[in-house]
Amino acid sequence: MPRNRVVLGLQWGDEGKGKVIDLLAADADLVVRCQGGANAGHTVVVGGKKTVLHLLPSGILNENARCIIGHGVVLDPIALCHELDDLMAGGSDLAKRLIVSDRAHLVLPSHPHLDRAQEAAKGAGKVGTTLRGIGPCYTDKAARIGIRAGELIDLDASERKLREHIAKANVIARALGAEDLDADAALRAWMPAARRIAPLVADSIRILHEAMAQGRSFLFEGAQGAQLDLDVGTYPYVTSSNTGIGGILTGSGLSHKQLGEVIGVVKAYTTRVGAGPFAAELTDARGDALRKRGHEFGATTGRPRRCGWLDLVIVGYACRLNGVDAIALTKLDILDGEPELPVCVGYRLDGQVLDGPPARIEDLARAEPVYEVLPGWSTPSTGARSFDRLPRQAQDYVAFIERRLGVPVRWIGTGAGRDEIVVR
Ligand code: IMP
Repeated sequence: MPRNRVVLGLQWGDEGKGKVIDLLAADADLVVRCQGGANAGHTVVVGGKKTVLHLLPSGILNENARCIIGHGVVLDPIALCHELDDLMAGGSDLAKRLIVSDRAHLVLPSHPHLDRAQEAAKGAGKVGTTLRGIGPCYTDKAARIGIRAGELIDLDASERKLREHIAKANVIARALGAEDLDADAALRAWMPAARRIAPLVADSIRILHEAMAQGRSFLFEGAQGAQLDLDVGTYPYVTSSNTGIGGILTGSGLSHKQLGEVIGVVKAYTTRVGAGPFAAELTDARGDALRKRGHEFGATTGRPRRCGWLDLVIVGYACRLNGVDAIALTKLDILDGEPELPVCVGYRLDGQVLDGPPARIEDLARAEPVYEVLPGWSTPSTGARSFDRLPRQAQDYVAFIERRLGVPVRWIGTGAGRDEIVVR
């Protein structure tokens, strides 16, 4: 078994990474989040109890793992405190196992304020962000004016900087037609949360390298999905971080030689939240039925997810870009009862069939899906725990994916529960 593993979403997020990470975290000494922030929503169901994690690594549910929020994450202290309170209500002492990188940028009250103002100003052209302040926080990071967790050592200075940030954000937001953010009220909510997380802040790079030298096993946990990557995703309808292997590298501080096996998580069909092209989308009753059966409503925002057939063009592209070694296919059971299953294997554009998404969003929006239609299955796959217990056509569906991608499918999700999974 590999000592270190990376788990990445290969679609538009919401692939079911939480469950896969929870399973694999059982073998990991350290679980590391490297990018994104509280825009993520990783759902884990243990013993019938559903837990949704946003900032905390999903591996936190493994009581033996240390969890690191790496420096590529943008961390909202208020969101983190809410999450800790929810989880610790059960009596667990998980804050002791949690480390926040001193280089991680903090989401300030000015960031969601700007996110809301910018999205509102875009009108019909909005990205459909989670409004968690992710883009504005990464913008401040790139502009070299952000506040990092390590600065919480001096809370008075942090408070002063925060006031300056809010004053500047108000100028921009006002120009966009938004109301001012009340700095005093924002500080009253933010400062106590910041004070509470300050003791968790440490030099995560040193800790990670020491643990690596001691031969500890690592699980690197990606957030969002490959198509939301700032550089290679469906720009501008993307998030503001690198959601692929690049984000794991830059957001952890380890070298590419230390990352280990790359596992790509793929939902058996496709979903997307927010705006942007989606070639295999179903805008009819079949899409509604998938949404209902798959409970496809955002774990962070509750928004209905757009649903469609499996798109192997984008998944193949993500496999190539991220060096994917194995696939975890999730929610196969949601396809039970579909009479036939079209799978998108190419994009037709200007008389050519492409095997990857074009860069220009206008071209992507024009691309037509080329489908190969596979037979569905009528007997349930729900709860199957071995490959040979899956309906024959479901086995063929998996084999088709492996053949097209040239990557083995090693895990197959057959239900929401922790143990409803086929391991091959
Ligand atoms: P932001 O990350 O909040 O800026 O949102 C940018 C885009 O990424 C929007 O389309 C969001 O719906 C999408 N997004 C961000 N995080 C997630 C996620 O965890 N799952 C699915 N979509 C996400």
